[in-house]
Amino acid sequence: HSVEAHRTDLMTITRYVLNEQSKHPESRGDFTILLSHIVLGCKFVCSAVNKAGLAKLLGLAGETNIQGEEQKKLDVLSNEVFVKALVSSGRTCILVSEEDEEAIFVEPSKRGRYCVVFDPLDGSSNIDCGVSIGTIFGIYTVKDQDEPSLNDVLQPGKNMLAAGYCMYGSSCTLVLSTGSGVNGFTLDPSLGEFILTHPDIKIPKKGNIYSVNEGNAKNWDGPTTKYVEKCKFPKDSSSPKSLRYIGSMVADVHRTMLYGGIFLYPADKKSPNGKLRVLYEVFPMSFLMEQAGGQSFTGKERALDLDPTKIHQRSPIFLGSYDDVEEIKALYAEEN
Ligand code: AHG
Ligand code: MN
Ligand code: MN
Ligand code: MN
Repeated sequence: HSVEAHRTDLMTITRYVLNEQSKHPESRGDFTILLSHIVLGCKFVCSAVNKAGLAKLLGLAGETNIQGEEQKKLDVLSNEVFVKALVSSGRTCILVSEEDEEAIFVEPSKRGRYCVVFDPLDGSSNIDCGVSIGTIFGIYTVKDQDEPSLNDVLQPGKNMLAAGYCMYGSSCTLVLSTGSGVNGFTLDPSLGEFILTHPDIKIPKKGNIYSVNEGNAKNWDGPTTKYVEKCKFPKDSSSPKSLRYIGSMVADVHRTMLYGGIFLYPADKKSPNGKLRVLYEVFPMSFLMEQAGGQSFTGKERALDLDPTKIHQRSPIFLGSYDDVEEIKALYAEEN
């Protein structure tokens, strides 16, 4: 009986968000419309990624972005798709993308009350070899729709009203939180719908996987070095942790969310603020981790408390299972 019920009671992401919306009688469906345009962008990128090799979408676009990175064709294409989808939703007024140097202020006639910060294609270095990549987004509400300003997006991550990512892997999975828990939806290509497959995701309190680019070990600071040492040579009788590092933040975070453990992109001598960008990588993933019962730490403070001053600002990040992050917080506390 239950299997039959499941098959006929399709909880699509749109239905889920409409259910959420009904809890806020004052809402006029704007968020639902915004989300449906983000979902459209994800579906497009998913199909482009799946046929990238066939559609000559691999390789470089021949341009360089503000990050100093050579843009891949899929970076540029995905960015254009999301910008167009978000503007045409008529529900946004400021957009910040990893691939655009300046924030985009939507023209008044198409303005809405949401600000979206996003990484249209995360894990670009993995595109050409077919390893999982993704899209990451966070949503703020604008203070004054008639006078949008950069301050509307230069806010601590704790002020986000929603965040999510879509992972383009063996399946296309969209993980979303609107502030009351985390839910995962898998794209059913035959329906073209994201179906609820991971209701109310909770990250294990402790895990036995650590996820870091060990190639940077030479440049790590004391606490990070000590922590990774502890993962490999535990002082007590516990067994060493496993190392899993994919190199796409979305894939590494998704595995951490489901299996537990810790993901680290620490500061190092070369990059004192680490590599990951606060607005559209650190904040959305930290928001999701806290909503799933985990936590996220910058080496100095709770990641969501960070008050950014630049839209492409970077921060070190340690996120994942609650107990694992506690251990690294203790090591940084000793040092400070
Ligand atoms: P992006 O492709 O959006 O620029 O992000 C890449 C990021 C992130 O996905 C990943 O965790 C990290 O770069 C990997 O960096 P390293 O290759 O230095 O480990
Ligand atoms: Mn990039
Ligand atoms: Mn990224
Ligand atoms: Mn990117």
